[in-house]
Amino acid sequence: MPVLTKYVIEGGYKLRGEVTISGAKNAAVAIIPAALLVDGTCRIENIPEIRDVTLMLDLLRDIGADVRLINRNCVEINASKIRTTRADYDMARKIRASYYLIGALLGRFGSAQVALPGGCNFGDRPIDQHTKAFKLLGAAVDVQNGYVIAESHGRLSASSIYFDVVSVGATMNAMLAAVLADGTTIIENAAKEPHIVDLANFLNSMGANVSGAGTDVIKVRGVKKMEGGAYTIIPDQIEAGTYMAAVAAAGGEVLVRNIIPKHLDCITSKLLEMGVEVTEHDDSLLIKRTKPLSNTNIKTLPYPGFPTDMQPQATVILTLANGMSIVTEGVWDSRYQYVEELRRMGAKIQVDGKTAVVEGVDSLTGAPVRACDLRAGAALVIAGLAANGITEVEDILHIERGYEHIVEKLTALGAHIRMVEDNIPVAKAQ
Ligand code: EPU
Repeated sequence: MPVLTKYVIEGGYKLRGEVTISGAKNAAVAIIPAALLVDGTCRIENIPEIRDVTLMLDLLRDIGADVRLINRNCVEINASKIRTTRADYDMARKIRASYYLIGALLGRFGSAQVALPGGCNFGDRPIDQHTKAFKLLGAAVDVQNGYVIAESHGRLSASSIYFDVVSVGATMNAMLAAVLADGTTIIENAAKEPHIVDLANFLNSMGANVSGAGTDVIKVRGVKKMEGGAYTIIPDQIEAGTYMAAVAAAGGEVLVRNIIPKHLDCITSKLLEMGVEVTEHDDSLLIKRTKPLSNTNIKTLPYPGFPTDMQPQATVILTLANGMSIVTEGVWDSRYQYVEELRRMGAKIQVDGKTAVVEGVDSLTGAPVRACDLRAGAALVIAGLAANGITEVEDILHIERGYEHIVEKLTALGAHIRMVEDNIPVAKAQ
């Protein structure tokens, strides 16, 4: 009988204690395929134990890489015996980040066949900037039978790449393809997210020569070979922001540990505007809500702007703030599908295109809701923690793609949340 897994949350309990932030998902899903570029063995530490990482490791295993889990947050990868440069179609389309296999396989072996990527659905998600970069580096790129097929005759050749839009994925993919290319590649209008810098640091620690990551011009001097080594992934900016948002919405006082406070400035500054107290330490911060929330406006932008991946969680806080707030989505076409679910909980939000007008209410009420994507799911969990009564969040597989042990971490903070498995009658499941 099919099983439906959901989170059942009894809201209204303040969060108290300490939470330790895991390794960054969006760094891990690029650094794991980057190991394909390396001759020796790469040891990667602080990988989060989440579904997207498991899928990425399975994709590498499936093409013949030797992937050994040393413990649940550490893996060793050796790509010396790759059997094929064609990734399994069904596995690859389950995860957006499978597009990094194209840059890595093409850069190392001159050939990649990877299904057009899947992942969260919030509007059109083209990869034209990725393919533009591969072509500029000398590859032929085509889409056939659902696969992106990229081929080069021998080593790729360095180039100047100017991106038309600021894209995290295209910037990382261009770096992956360029590290072993012949000559110096210049990537302009590059994305600047912390995970871009983390990928550059990983590549450099394995023998690459990448400079400028974290600015909008990245220079990649091609090297002939990369050796093995060990690397530790940075803490997850968005996971940290999500716990901060949970405290802001549900109330309480929590020490968020294992973070890089600088990466959180864009989130911290908005929480301060909302009247939440944030005290930064070297690698942790204390977040505390003692008074009513104030309204504010938010516009999502590429880093260092307010992250789109925090937009749903921040909107939940604003549903409980005094007065009216305006949220503008500046990265994706359509990232408000979760609003309908929040309305079931009593939120007052009007959406017009990329703008949401949020009118604060005194309280939310628990309801059965459905996670339509990863961050939307996190937002519904936060809403459930802050609401009166019981919230049931369905489709939690989305949430487990990106949050390590979320139920355990929230439970340790005093939240009343549990995972429940229901058998669904076959007729209903069809
Ligand atoms: N874009 C293009 N052409 C391209 C690539 C992107 O027009 O070839 C546009 C997109 O349509 C979008 C904008 O550029 O409007 C930015 O997209 P970007 O390429 O930066 O997004 P991504 O690499 O596909 C990553 C994260 C997302 C996060 C975005 C923006 C990963 C695996 N995913 O996606 O994370 O929202 O950057 O920061 O790193 C999440 O973690 O929940 C998540 C969705």
